[in-house]
Amino acid sequence: MPAGGFSGPAPSGVVFEAKITPLVVISCIMAATGGLMFGYDVGISGGVTSMPDFLSKFFPVVYNRVEDKKAHDSNYCKYDNQGLQLFTSSLYLAGLTATFFASYTTRKLGRRLTMLIAGIFFIFGVILNAAAQDLAMLIVGRILLGCGVGFANQAVPVFLSEIAPTRIRGALNILFQLNVTIGILFANLVNYGTAKIHPWGWRLSLGLAGIPALLLTVGSILVVDTPNSLIERGRFDEGKAVLMKIRGTKNVDPEFNELVEASRIAQEVKHPFRNLLKRRNRPQLVIAVCLQIFQQFTGINAIMFYAPVLFNTLGFKNDASLYSAVITGAVNVLSTLVSIYSVDKVGRRVLLLEAGVQMSISQVVIAIILGIKLKDNGNGLSHGLAIVVVIMVCTFVSSFAWSWGPLGWLIPSETFPLETRSAGQSVTVCVNLLFTFVIAQAFLSMLCHFKFGIFIFFSSWVLVMSLFVLFLLPETKNIPIEEMTERVWKQHWYWKRFMDEEDDEDRNAKKVGKISGYHNSQL
Ligand code: BGC
Repeated sequence: MPAGGFSGPAPSGVVFEAKITPLVVISCIMAATGGLMFGYDVGISGGVTSMPDFLSKFFPVVYNRVEDKKAHDSNYCKYDNQGLQLFTSSLYLAGLTATFFASYTTRKLGRRLTMLIAGIFFIFGVILNAAAQDLAMLIVGRILLGCGVGFANQAVPVFLSEIAPTRIRGALNILFQLNVTIGILFANLVNYGTAKIHPWGWRLSLGLAGIPALLLTVGSILVVDTPNSLIERGRFDEGKAVLMKIRGTKNVDPEFNELVEASRIAQEVKHPFRNLLKRRNRPQLVIAVCLQIFQQFTGINAIMFYAPVLFNTLGFKNDASLYSAVITGAVNVLSTLVSIYSVDKVGRRVLLLEAGVQMSISQVVIAIILGIKLKDNGNGLSHGLAIVVVIMVCTFVSSFAWSWGPLGWLIPSETFPLETRSAGQSVTVCVNLLFTFVIAQAFLSMLCHFKFGIFIFFSSWVLVMSLFVLFLLPETKNIPIEEMTERVWKQHWYWKRFMDEEDDEDRNAKKVGKISGYHNSQL
């Protein structure tokens, strides 16, 4: 890699000049705040819902159950409450609804304004949550935060891939996930501190989300929109000026022309979502949808959302529960670094398959310990066994963090062809949030009914997804996006059958000449 500069080949073979300019660095910071905000929201609810002050104010029924040592309720069912689950899950339901609008605003208003909209939703959501007097305020606040997540998770990755020089696009993608994990860890640390502040510590936990929210808002006011977006909206001169600024050179004509051409072709795709359903786009669609469903069915968010509650269920005292959640959060961050380091060396499949083994073993060990030792109405686990469970949870989290965590996002982003990438991104975010919602809403009830079997349930899914990887997921390591069709799909024993037939529409498009000329920075 040339010092201080990057260059990326275009599909046409032209090499564009591109340096890492201050603007590109600012966009990295943007990614940080978008990811941090998402991670903070994921991580904060678990600790808050295990704080007695919070429970007694909003969920007195759960509070009485948890506090009443002589209660007849099963250990596994203490926290089973639809309202409590709604507090966590409403965010994801709102988020997945918002992605449909976000796809529209990302195209019509631009990436920058869409991020600004996200920031404003976040700020109002945080205010309502931190000031909540009743359950309604709390849930409405979570819904506003969810809208923020929907808009941010659509616009930030698109913004990043368009602003980044081609060669660091993959790394930036995982950087987003790294920031999600830092957000989760930060939230756990905050909860650890605020749990000691009575009776309003939970307000501080929810209110501190204002920091990443403000950063995202101010950040999106300061940065420029991407050249792709400006060109898409007919602002050619501005687009060219921005391109010169972000690439740090006046020599941008080849890239500019490709962007104009790509945008012209993209505008010809009248129905991006219908296009996504075409036969030749099916492999990528199936893989993106399956990866997102599988990512959630690893059971990761059962841990991320409810670790403190889960550790409480196991008999840890409140403080120790949060402490364990902090350890889990730290393991998550560190293991994501492993992924950044190794994903382009050992490849996606090796990471996913290795993780499959590691995840299912740790889940089965947890299930066995809980099955034999955690009595329904007893006092939780012995100290030694509880520690083994924490270690197994860390083993599970670490393997998730170097596999399904980042790759669930990376693989769709590098396999969708350019004509469907924007619509593909919406579907990816939407399916992710839908299944995150399902887990958030169902986990505490599932824990109550399945008991320790919940871990067997998730480990069975890990088996299914590992088989999927083994047979159906092609390796995409080191393959330029524009060569995916030839080098990946047409070579794959199963997916190649989707590549040889052309739709009538494609044939016509080819006649007019252009389908294969998309530029790879047009998302
Ligand atoms: C997932 C989130 C999860 C996080 C944990 C992400 O890739 O999409 O649902 O909470 O990883 O680190």
